[in-house]
Amino acid sequence: MISEIKYMTEKYSNLQFYGYKNDALLRIEALILEHSGTVLITDANVAQAQSGFLDALKVSQLVIAPGEKTKNMQQVEAICDFFNDAQLDRGGLVIAFGGGVVTDVAAFAASIYLRGVSLLLVPTSLLCMVDASIGGKTGVDTAWGKNQIGSFYSAENVLICPQFLETLPEMEVRNGIAEMLKHGTIADENHFADLSDVISKPFALTDIIPYISRSIEIKTEMVQVDPNDKNQIREKLNLGHTFAHAIEQISDYSVPHGKAVAWGLLLAAELGKELKITTPETVKIIEKAVCDLFPEPCPYSPSTLFEYMKTDKKRENESIRFLIPNEIGNVVIKPTSIENPPSFFT
Ligand SMILES: NC(=O)c1ccc[n+]([C@@H]2O[C@H](COP(=O)([O-])OP(=O)(O)OC[C@H]3O[C@@H](n4cnc5c(N)ncnc54)[C@H](O)[C@@H]3O)[C@@H](O)[C@H]2O)c1
Repeated sequence: MISEIKYMTEKYSNLQFYGYKNDALLRIEALILEHSGTVLITDANVAQAQSGFLDALKVSQLVIAPGEKTKNMQQVEAICDFFNDAQLDRGGLVIAFGGGVVTDVAAFAASIYLRGVSLLLVPTSLLCMVDASIGGKTGVDTAWGKNQIGSFYSAENVLICPQFLETLPEMEVRNGIAEMLKHGTIADENHFADLSDVISKPFALTDIIPYISRSIEIKTEMVQVDPNDKNQIREKLNLGHTFAHAIEQISDYSVPHGKAVAWGLLLAAELGKELKITTPETVKIIEKAVCDLFPEPCPYSPSTLFEYMKTDKKRENESIRFLIPNEIGNVVIKPTSIENPPSFFT
């Protein structure tokens, strides 16, 4: 792990890897000294689980409610009010310390407060570490859909320290693995196979940690060639997400993002099978991994999900752009008619 950390830190300038929380603390303290003022946003679960670490940081902290329902415009306004109350000026630093909900909403607030202030992301969930903290997408949900308001805003620093994951509930580890399986399905058959092997039997967080850097690498490389999601490279990272966003919305966000992505991965493969893009063997491989992670089947039918997908921002004119795995390690984009959808959705 130490050699991987050194390699990754040298390779990606805004990513910093730390094996120990004490070293992460020193780095954050140094960044605080470089700025005119610092505020930190976290959620109530993280504030409790990481209280010792947070107490050591002598900065103003706002603790928001945990969960996807916090990711909205009212919360953005409350966070901006907090920045103002703390007299954060244009030389200030915002630290988003938490899972993907905290980093998405706090980073969006940081991107618009005074037209943008410095941002440090400290992901504390696996899903955020391998995916949400990488690539500069920020955003919130609205009544008309998930992530419908947001910005591209790169954090100057993203601090990766797997020791934060020690307090993460087991189910949240599984949610993070879902995004890692997605990375493997998009770009690396071996990564997918390694992860599938780990989750095929009882496993611990320590079994997953060695694969974190590969997931970060896959996401970072795709983002670097297509930072603003314009060239159909970054779009591939949406594999499973058209289904996942519909699952999250229809469940009123009671299904967490990671689990929805896992089910979305399988649904995308099943759609691919019907369209003769995905082989039955590939579907079986994905199905096995998804069932090992989340044994219960997706409770929503494709036709129910299709109704919700019509509002997804990946909808283009009269079609929805589905990402389909044609084999493990490779995906294709398949625009699908809304008027005449494949029979999978009827
Ligand atoms: N911006 C992007 O590119 C991007 C990419 C993927 C996902 N996302 C977004 O990320 C969100 C999902 O992220 P998530 O799965 O981290 O959700 P989350 O932020 O809700 O975190 C999951 C749960 O784990 C808790 N938690 C986090 N770290 C902990 C720790 N160290 N100890 C104990 N508890 C801890 C949280 O309080 C929460 O209850 C979704 O809103 C999704 O849309 C964004």
